[in-house]
Amino acid sequence: MKVYINKRIPQVGLNIIKENNLEIITSETENPTHEEWLANCKKADIILNVSKNQFDKEFFDNCPDVKAIALFSVGFDQVDIAEATKRKIPVGNTPDVLSRATSDVAFLLMQMVSRKASYNIDKVKSGNWKDFDALEEQGQELYGKTLGILGLGRIGFEMAEKCQKAFGMSIIYHNRSHNEQAEKELSAKYVSFEELAEDSDIISIHANYTPEQADLFNKDVFEKMKENVIFINTARGGFHNEKDLFEALISGKIWGAGLDVTNPEPMQKDSPLLELPNVCVLPHIGSATLEARSGMARLAAENAVAFSKGQKMPTCVNPEVYEN
Ligand code: DGY
Repeated sequence: MKVYINKRIPQVGLNIIKENNLEIITSETENPTHEEWLANCKKADIILNVSKNQFDKEFFDNCPDVKAIALFSVGFDQVDIAEATKRKIPVGNTPDVLSRATSDVAFLLMQMVSRKASYNIDKVKSGNWKDFDALEEQGQELYGKTLGILGLGRIGFEMAEKCQKAFGMSIIYHNRSHNEQAEKELSAKYVSFEELAEDSDIISIHANYTPEQADLFNKDVFEKMKENVIFINTARGGFHNEKDLFEALISGKIWGAGLDVTNPEPMQKDSPLLELPNVCVLPHIGSATLEARSGMARLAAENAVAFSKGQKMPTCVNPEVYEN
């Protein structure tokens, strides 16, 4: 079978594919255009996809020979899962292996924002480090605060555990279902979305993104929040409305924001958010560690190989395709 790997991946993934005698198709350029990508997809049985190409009805109509998709990501928002399932196309993702790395970035952003770190680093770099001023640049401490998590799955659990151990935080969360492990081990309390917005001191998003959740964090929701809130998004930029977030920050409705994801990505370099002292933006580096990226390559390759052998993908987001 032929597998199209559209961008470079860690060697461990390539080795698994090669050892299993799959034929690899690669892109002619480092960042293929949509046309080049589509032309290669048409030649493949399996797509091992890196980055945010869309797999929608139009794609499946255009590429009728594609039989399986192995994503190099835990998020699968770029795939129309219902359409793939209808066509019996399994879609694999890469859970668990990046939970630590991604939650580390949420934890990092929370601390950077609480002490206005990026703004202060810029001050040093631009020669604006002034004499000590007792009233200048006061941050806020995180000890004993309430962390509100939207989407308490594997990554959210890691974030909650770190915040509890480091800062003795209480955990509240909103999810599709109860997370019994978190309730037992972290005394996490399930709350409504409104309560999450109203009662959290830090809000961190770790949910799977679907189009119905576009702009979930908007003007109305920011208005309900406490004034000291630090808003953290390491999931998908679509969850928050950037204009409303900017307004909430400059009007002091919320205290600060840390983003590893934006809408669009890459973020425009003249985004007004980048001018604010209480904002820290990272370029979607949640899973960017040697360990996590190697794990992702391994899982994506194992999903592709399992499919080629007529086996179930080990980490499949639509296992219904295997039902008769
Ligand atoms: C993921 O795995 O979903 C990360 O956001 C990288 O795309």
